Amino acid sequence: MTDEPATSRRAFLAGTAAAGAGLVATSATAQTPDPLITEVQEWASIFGDPVDATPYGMPIEFESHVVRRNVEWLTESTASSINFTPIHALEGTITPQGCAFERHHSGAISLSKSDYRLMINGLVDKPLVFTFEDLLRFPRQITTAFCECAANGGMEWGGAQLEGCQFTQGMIHNMEYTGVMLRDLLAEAGVQTEGKWVYVEGADASSNGRSIPMEKALDDVMVAFFANGEALRKEHGYPVRLVVPGWEGNMWVKWIRRIGVYDQAVESREETSKYTDLMPDGRARKWTWVMDAKSVITSPSPQAPIRHGAGPLVITGLAWSGNGRITRVDVSTDGGNTWTPARISGDAKSKALTRFHHDINWDGQEMFIMSRAIDETGYVQPTKQALRDIRGLNNVYHNNSIQTWWVRADGEVENVEIA
Ligand code: MTE
Ligand code: CO
Repeated sequence: MTDEPATSRRAFLAGTAAAGAGLVATSATAQTPDPLITEVQEWASIFGDPVDATPYGMPIEFESHVVRRNVEWLTESTASSINFTPIHALEGTITPQGCAFERHHSGAISLSKSDYRLMINGLVDKPLVFTFEDLLRFPRQITTAFCECAANGGMEWGGAQLEGCQFTQGMIHNMEYTGVMLRDLLAEAGVQTEGKWVYVEGADASSNGRSIPMEKALDDVMVAFFANGEALRKEHGYPVRLVVPGWEGNMWVKWIRRIGVYDQAVESREETSKYTDLMPDGRARKWTWVMDAKSVITSPSPQAPIRHGAGPLVITGLAWSGNGRITRVDVSTDGGNTWTPARISGDAKSKALTRFHHDINWDGQEMFIMSRAIDETGYVQPTKQALRDIRGLNNVYHNNSIQTWWVRADGEVENVEIA
């Protein structure tokens, strides 16, 4: 599943790189003249687009393959479905909103700022309703956080299935949010001493109501209205969503319209259980909100094969932990027999995606490449088998196991499991 065809220019560069070990550029005095250098190109002889051609800029047409994709058989309807971030084609750590995965239980709604209301009620001294303008008058904060659906990797429990990290690990995005802290809004309403939980619900038909313990609500939960410097996109909850750093995506209520303060979790009151992890003995793990440390090599990967032959190769990927900062990422190229620490590029922010790079000199032979994340608590990302030994195969949620890619000698990459 390759997105981009190899161009003749790339094939030409590949031939050169293979010929001289370690040489990653073409000799400037090469025998065959390169028309891209010797000829005047069209783009150098015309005016380009004027400044008002695209009042809101979109990616250039050559990047049109970098898009969200879905897996058709996953859900019956696309209104209640999920799509996946093209993490194989992105770099750095911030996910542009336009290609950040979406998960809706009843579709993305259009809710204007003027129609927006947020109510805080329940066990509070003063039940309050905030308009969007009201929210703008509270002190603002900025935080970067990953949002990962608990079902990320859920299709891989039984075996390696989907060809690409977009589908196996792509129910994740990482944005820089601006908003107000939930604790400031709760303080305004005055939480009574019996108030131990908040029940948060959205304005969409599904409402996606979830209970959050008061301790977390008063810690780092944000009521956000900007992402990556601009207003939230419709599909991510415009005009206001909840940001619950480190916790499963389901708690990140979009189009948030009510925060009820209660003495217990509303789910327990209704005796319903959402998002539990079914164990082999028939019992279920409940309240598994924190996303444990995880990582994946995004390139090379099935959708990002190696096009240049042997020699210098950049291996890169993402690591994250709901328990804090990533302190180390190890990479193996021999199926987990030996591990080498990768370089962590840029800042490793708490509860945010962290980029790693690992530069090798590829001998052109097949490799089984894996990454494993370690976070500040000392937690080490487990193998798939280690997770299965504990949780069995009935489970859908919270698969944070190590991913293996089989890089073939021809540079193509496949999703595999090795014993
Ligand atoms: N909030 C509302 N109101 N409705 C929803 O369907 N889906 C939840 C959560 N918040 C949902 C919601 C789930 S399961 C996830 S994983 C995240 O939103 C996904 O956020 P995103 O669509 O911005 O990626
Ligand atoms: Co989800």
